[in-house]
Amino acid sequence: VIQVNMVALDRQHHALGTEIEAAVLRVLRSGHYIGGPGLAEFEAQAAAYLGVPHAIGVSSGTDALLVSLMALGVGPGDRVITPGLSFFASAGCIARLSAVPLFLDVEPDSYNLDPKALAHWCEAHPSELNRVKAMIVVHLFGQCAQMQSILSVADRYGIPVVEDAAQAFGTTYPLADGPRFVGTLGKLGCFSFFPTKNLGAAGDGGLVITSDGELAEQIRTLRSHGAKPKYFHGVVGGNFRLDPVQAAILSVKLPHLDAWNQIRRTHAVHYDEALNGLEGLTAPVCLYGRAHHIYHQYVVRLTGRRDALAAHLARHGIETQVYYPRPLHLQTCFESLGYLPGTLPIAEDAAKNTLAIPVHAQLTAEERAWVVQAVIEFFAPGRPMP
Ligand SMILES: Cc1ncc(COP(=O)(O)O)c(C=O)c1O
Repeated sequence: VIQVNMVALDRQHHALGTEIEAAVLRVLRSGHYIGGPGLAEFEAQAAAYLGVPHAIGVSSGTDALLVSLMALGVGPGDRVITPGLSFFASAGCIARLSAVPLFLDVEPDSYNLDPKALAHWCEAHPSELNRVKAMIVVHLFGQCAQMQSILSVADRYGIPVVEDAAQAFGTTYPLADGPRFVGTLGKLGCFSFFPTKNLGAAGDGGLVITSDGELAEQIRTLRSHGAKPKYFHGVVGGNFRLDPVQAAILSVKLPHLDAWNQIRRTHAVHYDEALNGLEGLTAPVCLYGRAHHIYHQYVVRLTGRRDALAAHLARHGIETQVYYPRPLHLQTCFESLGYLPGTLPIAEDAAKNTLAIPVHAQLTAEERAWVVQAVIEFFAPGRPMP
């Protein structure tokens, strides 16, 4: 049995340890523990990488979403459209502003917001549209949602789009004039640097990007309690600042991101080739070509046997994870919204029948082969290895 985990952050640190530790030490010795030159440096580096004029470091991906909705003026009673399948943060930040999440279904292949479901909802609810203040589109598992279709609906109804690109730093989307980084397609793009993300800090961290100078200024103000100038508060904000220690670590890691994402793609190619023919298993669908997917997660679908596969892999020392076991519209905290099981069938099906297997950038070829062997074993016990 080879132990294979969903992440191996110790290995990632080991590879860059000397540089990371020196960067942290520089912050400690600088005396700049809030803000400071290191934070500005990382923000400039991230803005240059993503090709946007404004990148604002914040305390987490969750706070990136929260502060973005605050900047768009989302408040009590407003509706915010968001997919039913995502990490809780996308919905939680809506509810925390006393607004109402309006959950729509996802596509069966990409698990991202279904543009048809969006168009249909907008057509079917003309009288409710004026209450919709924003939309959060999630780029789940490292692949961009169908942004052209989504943005055309959003534009038609004048709904500002916040991209939840927490799982998609470095993902691109093909446009007629060339690929564009996700996060740059809507009004605001939000990233998470949670340690397990493709670009992860050694703690919490996040980023908001925008090409709108006014929104950028508002977010900079909101992340320090809405103070402008210091101690004078025109609006109520919060403490949403990115820690300069984390910024320094991210500055060391960012130049390695493309290579790490490429390794994840290589794992995905191997998995696709080995697993796609297995009866009853569907490998993840790559909508726009391999180059536009960063495989934050490699999620397979197998109807009815997901938990059995997870248990089988666990017996072989292989960690797996379900993203997400309960869709957002059926969470207990949203019970009062009245969504019943069956409302978003695709999201609900994904919650029951999908499983993520290890695909991180530090996974070795030997570990990957062990995962493949164990999955094949599950479907065809006794079949020789390819
Ligand atoms: C899709 C999505 N949105 C938001 C978040 C929140 O990010 P954070 O954990 O940095 O607050 C995460 C990750 O944790 C996520 O996966």
